[in-house]
Order: sequence, then C-alpha cells, then structure tokens
Amino acid sequence: MDTGITDSSSFAQPKASEPLALIVFGASGDLTRRKLVPGIFQLWCQGLLPETSSIIGFARSDKTDESFRRELKESTRDYLSCRGEPVNDDTWVRFARRIFYHRGEYDHDSDFATLRKRIEETSAANHVPGNCVYYLATPPTSFAPIIDQLGRAGLARRAQISPWARVVIEKPFGRDLQSARELNEHVTSVFDERQIFRIDHYLGKETVQNIMVLRFANSVFEHLWSHDYIDHIQITVGESEGVGRRGGYYDQAGALRDIVQNHIMHLLCLVAMEPPVALTPDAVRSEKVKVLESLRPIPLECAANGVVRGQYTAGSVEGVNVPAYRQMPNVAEDSGTETFVAFKTYVDNWRWASVPFYLRTGKCLPRRCTEISIHFKDVPQVLFNRPPTGPLPPNVLTIRIQPDEGISLEFQAKVPGAAMNIKPLKMAFGYAESFGSAPPDAYERLLLDAAMGDATLFTRSDEVEAAWRFVSPIIEGCPQTCCENILEYPAGTWGPKEADKLIEADGRVWHLR
Ligand code: BG6
Repeated sequence: MDTGITDSSSFAQPKASEPLALIVFGASGDLTRRKLVPGIFQLWCQGLLPETSSIIGFARSDKTDESFRRELKESTRDYLSCRGEPVNDDTWVRFARRIFYHRGEYDHDSDFATLRKRIEETSAANHVPGNCVYYLATPPTSFAPIIDQLGRAGLARRAQISPWARVVIEKPFGRDLQSARELNEHVTSVFDERQIFRIDHYLGKETVQNIMVLRFANSVFEHLWSHDYIDHIQITVGESEGVGRRGGYYDQAGALRDIVQNHIMHLLCLVAMEPPVALTPDAVRSEKVKVLESLRPIPLECAANGVVRGQYTAGSVEGVNVPAYRQMPNVAEDSGTETFVAFKTYVDNWRWASVPFYLRTGKCLPRRCTEISIHFKDVPQVLFNRPPTGPLPPNVLTIRIQPDEGISLEFQAKVPGAAMNIKPLKMAFGYAESFGSAPPDAYERLLLDAAMGDATLFTRSDEVEAAWRFVSPIIEGCPQTCCENILEYPAGTWGPKEADKLIEADGRVWHLR
C-alpha cells in the first residue's frame, strides 16, 4: 500500500533460539493441539527453532509416538488452514520425527526418572546440550506436583547455565492472592525467578505489544496522555462465544479470575504506565507493577454494589441460538458464577488523578471485540462546540486489539458545502491493510521468547500478586455460590442493563454497544 510516507523503518530480524526440547505437560489437551504445536511448527519452519529441537508430550492418556504425531498433524493442519497457512506434507514429516510422547502420572517419581532418561537420549542422538523448556499446560492443580517432580528428578537445573531449563506456567496463576503467593513460593523453591515464565497469551498479541510503540515511538500521543487531556478510558474484552466445553473450569473461575485478573490488568497497565527507563524485562515490568499498586482498591463491602456481575441466559448470538450458561455441561444448575463483569476504577497517581477507567468483559456478547478507547476531554464550548454546529462529540482514540486489529482516531471535519456542517470522521489504520496479513498468533511469539529467555512479555511474581491484591477483594465481596447475587442478560446482548447504568450515571456511554 502506498502510505505516502517515506519508509525509514529499519527491520531487525528475529534471532533463532538454541536447540531445545519442549516438554509439554498436559499434552493431550486442547492448548497443545490448537496453539502450542502449531506455534512451534511455525517457528521451526521459519528457522527460528533449530532443526535439532524436539517436542516431548507428557500426559496420562495412552498414546504412542505415532498416534500422537497423527493427532497433531490433523490439528495443526486444521488450525493453520483457518489462518490461510497450509501445511506442507514433506515439511510435516521432517518435523514429526522430532515429536515424542511420554505417558506418565504427574506424581510418580519413576515417570519423571524415565522422562529424564528420554530427554538425555534425545539430546545425545541430536548432539545438542539438552536445553529444556517445560510447559505446564495442565489444570492448575497439577502445577505444584509437576514442579516438585521436576526438582526431584534433577531436571530444574537451577544453577546451570548450560544446559539450561525454563518453566512456562499457564494462567490462572492462583485463585486469589493467598494461593498465588503459595504457588510463587512453591515454584521459586525449585526454580530461580529468571527461569520462570508465567504466561498470559494477551501479551503476545501484536496489538497489545503495539500499545507501547504507539505511546513511546510517537511524540504526539504521550503529551496528551494524562488527566489534563483525557476524560476517561474504557477497556472492553468482549467475546461472542460462550463457555463451550470448559464449563468445569469456568464455573470455578468466572470472568473476574478468567479475564480481569490477567488480560484486563495487562491492558490497563500498558495504557497507564510511565515510560520505562529501558526495554528490559525488569524495567517494563516494574512500571506495570507501579500501576497495579496505584489502583484504588475496591473494598470488600463495596464490591457487591460497585461491580456489575452478570450471567447469560438463553439467547441468540450472531443468529445462532445459545443455551443458558447454567445449562452448559459441568456448570452447576444454580451457579452464581459471573460470565460478565463491569466496574469502574481509578489509577491513583499524579498522571491519572480522577480519570475513571471503565472495565468490562463478557461471554456471549453480540460480537467478539476487544478494544481500549481513550476518550479525550470535551472541545471547549466556544466557536464550533455550541449551536448551531455543536454540541460536538469528543475525540476518541481506539486501539482495536481484535479482531480487525488496528487503531483509529475519531475527529470532527467540515462537510463540504456553503453551510457550516460538522461531521465526526475516523482516521484509521488496519493491520491487514497496512502489513498485508493478520498478525501472527500470540503463542508463536511467546514460545520464541521463552526459548530465547526473554521474560519481558511474561508476568513477574510481584506483578501477579499485585493484580490479585486488587482483584481478590472484588471476588470475595461478590460471593459466587449464590445465584441470587447475579444479574441476568440474554446471550447476544451487551450484558445486564446495570452495566449501562454504571457508566451513564457519570454522564458517559460505552463506546462499544
Ligand atoms: C483465555 C480465557 O485466557 O482467553 C478464555 O481462559 C478466553 O475464557 C480466552 O476465551 C480469550 O482469548 P482470545 O485470544 O481468544 O481473545
């Protein structure tokens, strides 16, 4: 596309990692099939993961190397073809030789002793040092036993530079502040913090990484980025899908644990943080922690009034009938778990003094859409912003995280003609149009970073605890066990009416509606 701008961009090439073995615990699960193996395959095809790397799937189900490879071929092909990236059969055959399956129980010493033997044999056969990335893609209850076993089997290699070992831990990291602290203590008793990669796939999304670039690689926005010019900020993580087959997990979690404590907190931090002194993992993460520590706490006793919690009932989403949440498999018939949540918070520091942040997420909303909208202050009520041309809507900068990734700025323009008519318009940038393709999957980037030992896009222990410190009182103040405490909304709507009232009470409206 001709942008009309001289292209002065300098493109750095991503570096390839050292050869490694990716050991996936929870290898029979959805995440392994849908995200991890396709991600590793893509990195391998691009030469970012050396040919001599390998994948060892560890799970309880009975499988052979061959049957595991067959399953993965099918799922990788399905997943990548949806993204318009066909899998070449010959390439897959070469890649599949690097995939192995190890059946085992997460609390059996002997299964970890044989795993160690297998890792050593595989590295020796490939003439590589045996670097390991352990990926915990299991339910959270298995995290501690697996970590203990890795330690006992001598696989944590805490003090070793080569061959090194790293552990990637999926979310949710704990269920509340107390359990997150305990898990942190547990993991750090076996691995060093620099070996631990707490993953939140939102941080691997191109549009999320671009928040820092938008703010700190441009001079126009950062000067306006404060309470002087910004009226309020909205963050919506909207999903059109329901809980699907994940009812068992979701009914114990709810939107506050599933999305707010992690994805929304990261988005909020990236939007609100001060410029870091460097782009190093600790410099960036320290700034994010400061934001979390500045969040105005929602006291336990206020949570039930100030936080709108909803649960979807039967309805229709994008023309498809959807059963009520409580009808889904493995969901309690009288469940009080929220599938929607909306509330207002403040970042109590100098930059954001008295700027409300409205946060909202929900399942079975009218469409899938995650965005951050920055609402600037009203235009002064002189000249155009009064009758007959006013009142004028304020400027809004929208960062569309997904789908239809991009950024737009709403502004006013004169409609051509002799009369003075003013119309709101959008200046828009779209990833697909500007870069020719949709952004790569978040897991691909994060797997490469873990392989390279770059923890910038992973959550540090104090960060995860600071996020829980803010979210735990909200959860405790809104008991989930009681279905009387929850507001209902039909699937396919933007949540309970109370969520609209929450923002309308302040004279504002949701940007996405
Ligand atoms: C996961 C949540 O972390 O993120 C899911 O557990 C949610 O409930 C998913 O659907 C959303 O991720 P994405 O990348 O599809 O927006």
